[in-house]
Amino acid sequence: MEAVLNYIKENKENYLNELIEYLKIPSISTLEENKEDMQKCASFVADKLKSAGMNRVEIFQTKGHPLVYGEWLEAPGQPTVLFYGHYDVQPVDPIELWDSPPFEPVIKEGKIWGRGTTDDKGQNFVHIKSVEAFFKTGGKLPINVKFIFEGEEEIGSENFGDFLKERKELLKCDAVVISDTSLYAEGVPTIGYGLRGLCYMEVEVTAANRDLHSGSFGGAVANPINELAKIIAKLHDKNGKITIPKFYDGIVALTKKERDNFKSLKFSDKKYAKEIGVKELQGEKGFTTLERIWARPTLDSNGIIGGYTEKGAKTVLPSKATAKISMRLVPNQAPEKIAKLFTSYIKSIAPKSVQVEIKNLHGAYPVVISLDSPAMVAASKAMTKAFNKKTVFTREGGSIGVVVDFVKQLKAPAILMGIGLDSENAHSPNEHFSLKAFELGILSSAYFIKEYAK
Ligand code: BES
Ligand code: MN
Ligand code: MN
Repeated sequence: MEAVLNYIKENKENYLNELIEYLKIPSISTLEENKEDMQKCASFVADKLKSAGMNRVEIFQTKGHPLVYGEWLEAPGQPTVLFYGHYDVQPVDPIELWDSPPFEPVIKEGKIWGRGTTDDKGQNFVHIKSVEAFFKTGGKLPINVKFIFEGEEEIGSENFGDFLKERKELLKCDAVVISDTSLYAEGVPTIGYGLRGLCYMEVEVTAANRDLHSGSFGGAVANPINELAKIIAKLHDKNGKITIPKFYDGIVALTKKERDNFKSLKFSDKKYAKEIGVKELQGEKGFTTLERIWARPTLDSNGIIGGYTEKGAKTVLPSKATAKISMRLVPNQAPEKIAKLFTSYIKSIAPKSVQVEIKNLHGAYPVVISLDSPAMVAASKAMTKAFNKKTVFTREGGSIGVVVDFVKQLKAPAILMGIGLDSENAHSPNEHFSLKAFELGILSSAYFIKEYAK
């Protein structure tokens, strides 16, 4: 193990240079114009899996972007871990707010800056590199290892579910390890054991059959932007509860043990508010901030489109307005069912003066993972060793669609060994990733491989 750890420390520079090459590929999954880059990025990952020592590497084409698979299964009698990561990234807009070009990574202040640094290339690369360190120093691994990297995580993992169902044997494992979440705080080793789900809807409100002069028609005809705003305003009550009937039905309440664990993390509302630049926090009455983000369902408008949005003034009564509204879900809320409840409620509160069309864009199931699997114990020990601090257990407010499939289809626990930080601007301009976390992530992964061996 000494040799492995030394190898990692000595090769920090090389590893970083390879990560830079990975980050230069603009693998934006949602944009048609980056389709070729997705193939290029998949090949890049495949090459890295090969040079890390995997003895079977394959790229699987899908209806969307390819999946990359790698395996080394020569540790008979030992458990098998599946490392999952996503090589796709979010779009870069608004581009003018970046201090340096998103696909030309720069290093400053002990961090690497660029799209995909923390979400998820910087994080998933650590597992490839820890495995490589074992092969370069001893020629083998103490456990069996599989990798599966997808290119559609940021767009709802549409093709992954089917692949998993068809290739259950291929992906069969004892545990899934994923680094695509955040540390509780800088330098604090963290394992996530829960993710919220997602239900992402689009609501289009139409009034007149065309845009109208707001002087000749304003006051007599419904304004879709005003009506949409009223609809959105009705979705929460004064206590911050979501008003959709049956929305909360059957959800699992937090146990005393969980609430106590959350409390023991000593979360500071003040610090959190200050860091994001708000005077006061808000949310569902009766719950703490951590409970609100990790364990309560929420509803947010993500974007609103309509009317005149160019410079200056134009007097117009628009014909249409659209809102993108998402709901984060907690266990026992199924995205399809929530979509139905949302749709019928919106239809019931919309006035007759407008038509509404509602689309379900995508969803993800929520998940909570048991804390006592051998892999969970090994991961916790591994992170404690790498960070030299006690590992804490958290839930996450974000979603990773495939995790529930792993748990349900493969019956394997998913260990969220994320090493990002919520402050690293994932999905936002100036995304970055700590170089220290990169190194500690590789070490954590190496310790995990060692700890998980019987
Ligand atoms: N890495 C994130 C998930 C995440 C975010 C975990 C924050 C923990 C904290 C992932 O890449 C992501 O962005 N997921 C989307 C899912 C969606 C597109 C289906 C999300 O949460 O919005
Ligand atoms: Mn991610
Ligand atoms: Mn993401």
